[in-house]
Amino acid sequence: MTAHPTLLLPPRTAPGPESLAEYRARGGHRGLEAVKQNGAAWLRAEVATSRLRGRGGAAFPTSRKWELAAAAAGPEKFVVANGGEHEPGSRKDRVLVERHPHAVLEGLLLAGLATGATRGWLYLIEDMEGPRKAAETALAELRAADDLPFPIDIHLGPTTYVAGEETAALNAIEGKPAKPRKKPPFPGEVGLFGKPTTVNNTETLAHVAWIAREGGAAFAAIGTAESKGTLLFTLGDGVQRPGVYELPFGATYRDLVEGMGGGLRDGRTLRAILPAMSCGFLLAQHLDVPIAYETLQPLGTSPGCGGVRIVDDRTDVVALAVGIAEFFMKEQCGQCPPCRMETNQFVHILKAVQAGKGPGYDDKLAKLAEFSRRKGFCSLIEMAAAPVLSAVKLFADDFAAAAGPGAPPAS
Ligand SMILES: Cc1cc2nc3c(=O)[nH]c(=O)nc-3n(C[C@H](O)[C@H](O)[C@H](O)COP(=O)(O)O)c2cc1C
Ligand code: SF4
Repeated sequence: MTAHPTLLLPPRTAPGPESLAEYRARGGHRGLEAVKQNGAAWLRAEVATSRLRGRGGAAFPTSRKWELAAAAAGPEKFVVANGGEHEPGSRKDRVLVERHPHAVLEGLLLAGLATGATRGWLYLIEDMEGPRKAAETALAELRAADDLPFPIDIHLGPTTYVAGEETAALNAIEGKPAKPRKKPPFPGEVGLFGKPTTVNNTETLAHVAWIAREGGAAFAAIGTAESKGTLLFTLGDGVQRPGVYELPFGATYRDLVEGMGGGLRDGRTLRAILPAMSCGFLLAQHLDVPIAYETLQPLGTSPGCGGVRIVDDRTDVVALAVGIAEFFMKEQCGQCPPCRMETNQFVHILKAVQAGKGPGYDDKLAKLAEFSRRKGFCSLIEMAAAPVLSAVKLFADDFAAAAGPGAPPAS
């Protein structure tokens, strides 16, 4: 396998979180110095040149979000680093914050300076002991060095999936139940405590620190035509070497699963992967497709937040789909009737397949998903449908075999 650039997870021998001294020794805070000299508009232009897209799952262009936030009126604006990672199989934000807290905090400060924020929050969740401690120590180092252009607090949200949605995170910081808000208005206009607020994923912000240091053009030189920079992935127990890995766009899932993960364990054979819980599946025959938004979208999937799940020759794909549907049913927050209905019905229909109740399930699932689309306060309603519809399509034979012929016609 070829060597890949590591922008976020450089090789290091020191144990524990990276200190301020260690971060500075590898060029950390050069971006902050540059923005002090060149100004906020310069940084926004560098991020536009980089063509960085958000790493929280939705891949929204960071520069577009920042331009809107910078243009928002009002003397008080806020910025939030979203590390509220609770998607099963994804650990990249935890690992990043725990290993490299200063890169995330520098990115948070840069996002604040670029958009005119006066205060920032690092949003983590309650069970993130290691990342919280690393971030607290890093913040104490920055305070001691008098290196905080504006105050930053750490907030711990609840351990629910939906609490990572950006407006749910804002509610949690305000002390309210961590449920998504109806949009519009978007946080860039009316966010935390009613003020314009920029929310970016922690990985996105660590990339911003790299871009401010090395330049937007250097970042844009990595990756493919439409997908720039590197991406963090989490590999779970399905491979020989589980862990969090960094690869540039343009690398392949074979590089990830075989090169970095060491291949499947116990001599199993790969059938497909699920690039992230809220995406469509990717069959093994597409393992050599370059990872990029523009290449995965025609195949019905996306990199999502990079928490890769392995589907091997021993995986019961119907049971897997039931498990995913149950996850979304349990984690939906109950505010939107179509989401409650969709996620409950998905489980009901898939369990009927498991019980061998016959055909017709694929039409029902597709109609439910179509009916529910865009009817929720947040995109969980679409996220829940993506893996289920994809499983039914790509593993049609498994579903048909499980569903059976159904009841014989009445004579
Ligand atoms: C149900 C749900 C859960 C989400 N969980 C996270 C999360 O854990 N971390 C995150 O950064 N974004 C999460 N998001 C996406 C955020 O709402 C938001 O798009 C992101 O934080 C913006 O940052 P980015 O533009 O840098 O990606 C979630 C969205 C939904 C609908
Ligand atoms: S779409 Fe679902 S998860 Fe999102 S706010 Fe509505 S009920 Fe909650």
